[in-house]
Amino acid sequence: MSIKILNNDEKKWFLETKNTVYVIGVDEDKNLQHLYWGEKLPYTSDYPGVLLLKESPFDNFEQIIKEEFSPWGGIRYKEPGLKVIYEDQVRDLILKYKTYKLIDSDKCKTLIIYLIDSAYNLEVELNYRLIEEYDLIERWVNIKNKGSQSVQIKQILSAQWHLPDIQNYRLSYLYGRWAGETKLSRIELGYGKKVLESRRGITSHQFNPWFAVDNGQADEDIGKVYYGILGWSGNWKIVFEKDSYGRLQIGGGINDFDFSWQLKPNECFVTPKFVAGHTTNGFGDASRKLHHYQLDYILPGNANHKIRPVLYNSWEATSFNVNEEGQKKLAEKAASLGVELFVLDDGWFGERNDDTAGLGDWYVNKKKFPHDLTSLISYVNELGMDFGLWVEPEMVNKNSKLYNLHPDWVYHFPNRPRSESRNQFVLNLAKKEVVEYIYDFINTLLGTYNIKFIKWDMNRPFSEPGWSEASKFQQQEIWVCHVQGLYQILDRLRRKYPEVIFESCSGGGGRIDLGILQRTDQVWVSDNTDAFDRLKIQEGFSYAYAPKIMMSWVTDSPNWLNQRKLSLEYRFNVAMMGGLGIGGNLNNWSKNEIKLAKEKVIQYKKIREIIQHGDQYRLLPSWKGNLIAVEYVNKNKDKAVLFVFLHSQQFGEKLPPIKLNGLISDFLYQYQDDNKKIILSGKALKEIGLKVNLKGDFDSKLIILEKQNKRND
Ligand code: DGJ
Repeated sequence: MSIKILNNDEKKWFLETKNTVYVIGVDEDKNLQHLYWGEKLPYTSDYPGVLLLKESPFDNFEQIIKEEFSPWGGIRYKEPGLKVIYEDQVRDLILKYKTYKLIDSDKCKTLIIYLIDSAYNLEVELNYRLIEEYDLIERWVNIKNKGSQSVQIKQILSAQWHLPDIQNYRLSYLYGRWAGETKLSRIELGYGKKVLESRRGITSHQFNPWFAVDNGQADEDIGKVYYGILGWSGNWKIVFEKDSYGRLQIGGGINDFDFSWQLKPNECFVTPKFVAGHTTNGFGDASRKLHHYQLDYILPGNANHKIRPVLYNSWEATSFNVNEEGQKKLAEKAASLGVELFVLDDGWFGERNDDTAGLGDWYVNKKKFPHDLTSLISYVNELGMDFGLWVEPEMVNKNSKLYNLHPDWVYHFPNRPRSESRNQFVLNLAKKEVVEYIYDFINTLLGTYNIKFIKWDMNRPFSEPGWSEASKFQQQEIWVCHVQGLYQILDRLRRKYPEVIFESCSGGGGRIDLGILQRTDQVWVSDNTDAFDRLKIQEGFSYAYAPKIMMSWVTDSPNWLNQRKLSLEYRFNVAMMGGLGIGGNLNNWSKNEIKLAKEKVIQYKKIREIIQHGDQYRLLPSWKGNLIAVEYVNKNKDKAVLFVFLHSQQFGEKLPPIKLNGLISDFLYQYQDDNKKIILSGKALKEIGLKVNLKGDFDSKLIILEKQNKRND
């Protein structure tokens, strides 16, 4: 595994990961051409060479070659990687190969290829960082203005990926809405473009920046899959462009919609990362690689291998009606269940009695908490739990002290209405004083109280994104400045309070991406806590993100959203598939429910290492039928957990055995089903499977398998 360079008459780079190779070459006209991406081939001479000028038929050369990173200029009509306007109003960009550099400093090797528009001294650095063990390549671009005049960037993608020729490209992607995020959709890509994007200022509930492309026949365990995921928490887009020769180019990065960036002399613009990979082992392998990549390379240092605590969150129980007495009562109950972290949600500050007031006024509401938060926090700590707090720092209500003081702090255009959504405005994080205000209030909270967890919420998308003081060249920079401001605050807080866990929330799953995950430890996936609905949301989530990141709560039945009634066992089993939380009103739970909840928390603590750090297998995905089965196997493969959910059973319908995966063939595994102990080999569990006794509607089972040293049956 390495970055090999061929340096004869033709220059080529071979980016080798454990199982794949990615090849780039420079042609005689100094264009950078993409040559190959896929499985390793036996000989270097097997890989294709650059296309030569003379080989270009009727269509122009730039349209024929697979440009590794295409500028907008010359005779080009495809989606560009970079589009600029120079100060003299020239809008033509010519990028030619200049040189390259190899970096081998941290645990990864990085190749940087330098391109230059020499007439204007605009340098473009293409970065390729190899995540060798997971067959992934992180790509991003730095643009340096080494000229003497400003340049206006109109479009800048992080990477363009070229796929090999495939008869039918099938795209898998995640779409959704509030309370229905990360649902899997699959379509065949026809000629032309398919665009996934967000223009809402946040990653969005509607689309998540993940994709997978196969030939329509790959399954969970077999088939070639190309897949990728973007690390950006603002406006983004991924464009799938199948040209008239049937070839697919995938470009992604910051959305160029309403975007412009002024790059002054000596300044550098760095794009977010776009990571992608290739596997021959289907969607399951692709997901597992992304999961482990996130644990090892993305999550903040202190969070990646620490087990997530079981938390209690009071939102669904008390909504805005929080007070010291009520929270203490809930805390006692939560502690008795074995909860490790007690989180006080919305409503504790300012005049926040509903969603019409208070956002922005981050002082403790003394009517609700007469002894400040200190008394509640000490109480929670004495009960043996850590304390966590909800904040929504980027927002302000019109009805708040902050808005009265600083009405100019929100995005707006002069002489135009300011649209409210959930009765609130978005603060302009492009303004330094706003960033300081947010940092200061959270710093004060963390410095004053013993807070070990922050739930960072963001409950509305942007509108009227005006920034009155900015120059006319910088007006459209706000989309990027906001995200940069947010990242800056989180980075500073994390540095100062490395032990604090941060959860990203945006009205549920509106801000889930690799950018926010570099700064937060986990995400609130959806406000939809109905366990059955949640199964599909969690399944979609699992294609792109690790179970450890996924927070899931057990809430009350009937569910507040759809009134569905589900057993407590079922609700626990669904929530235990990621980071477990409890969010019901414990005051209303019966003795039997409390007893079962205690048992389930004990059970979860025994298996959470397997769930949070193991390999996840979607054995029976929801779209295949009536049964859903998901398995988790630990690193040593001596322990596994199986979750099975039955939707509804027709009379006489026989349920198929569940065929397990990821176990060692000749290891013996013991499990218990309905008080019966059963021992089977890994091979038998894979080939014959395991019978699960499920009945009726919405039944579920959690089965734990452990390796046995010898047969004792
Ligand atoms: C939206 C979140 O997703 C909920 O969990 C809760 O925190 C509310 N906001 C509070 O306003």
